[in-house]
Amino acid sequence: MKILITGGAGFIGSQLGKHLHRAGHEVVLFDNMSFGHLDNLILEGAPFGQLVCKDVRDRDLLSDMKGVNTVFHLAGIAALPVCQQDPSEAYDVNVAGVANVLEAARRAGVRRVIFSSTSAVYEKTKAERFSEADPISPDLVYACTKAAAEQLCDAFAVNYGMDIVVCRFFNVYGPHQDVTRTSPPFTSYVARELVMGRSPNLFNNSDARRDYVHSDDVVDLLSRMLQAEGHFAAERFNVCSGQGHSVPELYTLFLEASGKKIEPIYNDPRSYWDRYPALFEQGMPLSRERITEEVFKNAIGNPDKSSQRFGWKARRNIREGIASVYDDAKRRLS
Ligand SMILES: NC(=O)c1ccc[n+]([C@@H]2O[C@H](COP(=O)([O-])OP(=O)(O)OC[C@H]3O[C@@H](n4cnc5c(N)ncnc54)[C@H](O)[C@@H]3O)[C@@H](O)[C@H]2O)c1
Repeated sequence: MKILITGGAGFIGSQLGKHLHRAGHEVVLFDNMSFGHLDNLILEGAPFGQLVCKDVRDRDLLSDMKGVNTVFHLAGIAALPVCQQDPSEAYDVNVAGVANVLEAARRAGVRRVIFSSTSAVYEKTKAERFSEADPISPDLVYACTKAAAEQLCDAFAVNYGMDIVVCRFFNVYGPHQDVTRTSPPFTSYVARELVMGRSPNLFNNSDARRDYVHSDDVVDLLSRMLQAEGHFAAERFNVCSGQGHSVPELYTLFLEASGKKIEPIYNDPRSYWDRYPALFEQGMPLSRERITEEVFKNAIGNPDKSSQRFGWKARRNIREGIASVYDDAKRRLS
């Protein structure tokens, strides 16, 4: 099958691309390289797939979609403070970009679109484990863009009968996650600081827990979604392990994996986004209480619906998973 992956040079897209290429599919890796890395696109010493350097907002996507069986739409701006400090750009990429991809897929008659939403849509939901049927009412820019994009998926599914799967990714972690950006995701940030022999700056020494799911398990689920029989009308699926882990617990696993004895520095959670001064300097500053609430958020998913529909289960053990992140960071940074 010909499969197009937007965000194909990013963390999840490149790992999925490798897997599908190995399985014999024709893979198009579509990416504007704003956060992508060419070294993600090397398999056994050589580039794999076809790289198309283009923006998902480009008005001419139809030519790229011709002959494509399935689109994985993974391109997006994922860092919360980046979205918060430039809401207009965040909506442009994460919402208008989705509309553009869906419209081109519709015109080209693409069989299925698999869209990457986020567990952040549950950020204001109160539940021990979030399920797909729980009501959502997000208020930070990143989560608002993804919730709006989910609604667009509903609209295309209802009005055109398009086959669309909506994935709500929880914290995906694993090798190849970006270690270089201003705000790397938690696990790649800690791995980078330990490899460099530095004390990481952490903001949460509480027992608040987040759901971590390894990229190998995510790739397994995405390929099951590709192959699944039936029709999906923008149905939501949690992509999660169902297991929550706190920051101190994960830090202990990193120390085990690295064999180092480095104490972290715990900072005031109110200062978590201080590296984005535009959020505080001009006019009305972002509420520090809201940032603290975000830091201490519990976010654990219920994987039952995905397990039942796709016969899937997250199998990677967290200790091995953290070791895989540390080893990958060590290899890439040396
Ligand atoms: N990794 C996670 O834990 C997680 C959790 C929830 C949701 N998600 C969502 O899953 C998707 C993939 O996440 P990831 O971790 O691989 O992110 P990533 O940042 O590593 O990859 C995203 C890719 O999209 C590309 N991109 C960004 N804007 C683009 C544009 N306008 N046109 C074309 N390409 C563009 C970037 O260059 C990058 O390569 C994102 O949409 C993200 O919001 C990820």
